[in-house]
Formats: sequence, C-alpha cells, structure tokens
Amino acid sequence: MQQIYLDYNATTPIAPSIQEAMLPYLSEHYGNPSSTHSLGRAALAGIEDARGRVAALLGADRDEIIFTSGGTEANNLALQGMLLRDVPTKTGHLITTDIEHPAIIEPAKHLQRLGIAVTFVKANRQGVVEPEAIEAALRPDTRLVSVMHANNETGVIQPIRQISELCRANNVPVHTDAAQTVGKIRTMVQEMGVDMLSIAGHKIYAPKGVGALYVNRSIPLEPVLQGAGHENGLRPGTENTPYIVALGQACSLVRKALDESGDRMAMLRDRLLSRLREEIGPRLGLNGQKSERLPNTLSVNFPGVVGADLLARIPELCASTGSACHSGMTRVSPTLAAMGVTPEIAQGTVRLSVGWYTSEEQIDRAAELLIGAWEALVD
Ligand SMILES: Cc1ncc(COP(=O)(O)O)c(C=O)c1O
Repeated sequence: MQQIYLDYNATTPIAPSIQEAMLPYLSEHYGNPSSTHSLGRAALAGIEDARGRVAALLGADRDEIIFTSGGTEANNLALQGMLLRDVPTKTGHLITTDIEHPAIIEPAKHLQRLGIAVTFVKANRQGVVEPEAIEAALRPDTRLVSVMHANNETGVIQPIRQISELCRANNVPVHTDAAQTVGKIRTMVQEMGVDMLSIAGHKIYAPKGVGALYVNRSIPLEPVLQGAGHENGLRPGTENTPYIVALGQACSLVRKALDESGDRMAMLRDRLLSRLREEIGPRLGLNGQKSERLPNTLSVNFPGVVGADLLARIPELCASTGSACHSGMTRVSPTLAAMGVTPEIAQGTVRLSVGWYTSEEQIDRAAELLIGAWEALVD
C-alpha cells in the first residue's frame, strides 16, 4: 500500500541531505564538544556551525540560540526559566492562552501548582488571540507573555507583532512557540518583536528529539536543569552533536526554500479544499476560516460523521482528527473546544497538513478517498 502522508504538522520525514549531514557526527566526529583535543574541536565546530544556521533563519545572533531536546524542552525553559525564581515569594504572573500546545499548557499549570498566578487568555471563535485580550490580562507583576505563533491544529496564525508591541510598551517580555511556523512562514525575531522563540527540529525535516530556544540576551533566564555550564549556562548536558548538526542543516534548507515552498504548499492545500468542496459543498466547514492561516494546514469538518471513523476507512491516508478516543470516550480537541467549536463539528474535524514531499497526485487521490469514505458513512 502506498501511503499518502498528510500529517506534516505532527512530524516530517527527515530530508535526505539533512540525514547525510548528520551521519559523520554519528561516526568519525564522535568527540565530546567540550574536549579541547582535535576530535572535541571537530564536534564543537559542527555545533557552532549549526548555531549560526539557526540564528540566520531567525535573524538572531549566535549567542542567543540555546539547543534543547525539542520544542517541549524549549517551551519549559522559557516559562520555568522566567518564573521559577518567583516561586519562593509567589509573586510572579504568567499570561498564556487556552489554545497552546500541551508543551506550554502543562508547564504553565505546573507553575500554577507551585503558586505562580497564570492567566489563560481565551481565543475568539476564529481561533485568534486578540491583542486587546492580552492587554487586559497584563498586571504589574506579569513576568512573561507566551502566545504560540500558529496553532498546530487549525494553522491559525496569531497577531504576534501587535501582541509584542503592546507588551513592550508595558515592559513585559514575550515568548512564542514557533514549532509550527518555522520553515513555513517568516519567523524573524526582530520583525515579530519577540524576546524568546521555540523551535522543534522534527517539524522541519530534522529528526525528533532536537530543538532550540532563541533567547534575547537582555532576558534574565535561569536554567531549569542543573549541571555543567553548557549552552550559555542555560542547558547543561553533553550536546547531541549529530541532531544539532541536523537542525542547523534543516534551518538552512527551510530558509532557502521558504517563499517557494510556502506558495507550493498553499496551492496544494487550496487544491485539496476545492476538490473536497466540489463534492461535499459548503457544508464542509473550515475551522478558523476568516483568519490568517499557515500555508500547509487544512482543518476541515466533515458534516454528519466522526473524523476518526472517516480516517479508519482510509488506511492509505495518514492524517489527524480533531478529537481523540480514550477508553471508549470521545474527547474533543481542547483547541477546538476553546474556540467554541461544537462537539459535533469538532468530532467531524480532520487535520490535513501538506509538506515538501506532497504531490498534486497525492492530493487528488486523498480527496477522492475522503469523499468516498464520507459518502459511505453518511449514506
Ligand atoms: C505547537 C507545538 N509546540 C510544541 C511541540 C512539541 O515539540 P517537540 O515534539 O519537539 O517536543 C509541538 C509538536 O507537536 C507543537 O506542534
């Protein structure tokens, strides 16, 4: 069976040139980057080259890039690194939103359990976090605002620039989880006005288990893990050289391909939507329709069916649903629920996300399979 992979927001395949670039660091360049001998220096050179590549993609300086084990750790470092110091006095306040990935929601709840005040600002019906809502949540003791750049499920892009402008006017630093935007749209930190930004390697054709946090050097971040002084003292532990090299290569690749791949992904996404609508009509709803959205993501709700049942009928197609079934109970996606999407619509939601290796033929075939399965279920 030839799989059609439309789940690039979950993870991407590793690009062959990225795999090739990391292989020498799994074999001959095995030195510890902290060692001063030649093998150590070769590993360190690989890491520093990668740091420059990540920095170039974000328009940052090299010393502002901290390598981590992924997007989750980058987010934890940003949130806990800013707020753990307030735990003894229970004074600080964190603002985030109710549509964040669990990699933000859970560290925020952890801080809340430790006595930090946390406000989860609500997104509107279109899945957008309104800058005014952030402004209204600001307090004199707010230490950090964290708003994702684009949502992983709906692809809705948040007004980060406006949010960071108003936070800057109030002297509050801004973090953004850019795991879903890096490599798909521009993510230049100065243009966005953010002080910290998280990246996940496996969303940009590098392996799982590597990421980075951009930290503006004016931000007084503290490490969350305790150990040696790696990564500017912010992330101890011997560096994962091969994966860091891969992340660097990935950043260079996506930087070069950005405009062209964005246009191509948008064309494929729109083709898929129009093929589906040709048969299903306007009853096929688009989540976050009136918002700015990622070029590669289509979050659609099929009328009268459950997304999981639809996908179960199409083993050839790899995609995600807007609800998950745990022990016989259907749990609606917290993001869709937060947007006020009804349980029926959330249950009928399927997220289709395209990427570099998606072809027009695959899109046409996926549309045909989805329409066939939908017709069979509603009949
Ligand atoms: C928006 C967002 N943030 C964070 C993460 C977590 O990244 P990682 O899997 O590298 O820990 C993901 C991945 O699913 C994501 O989509």
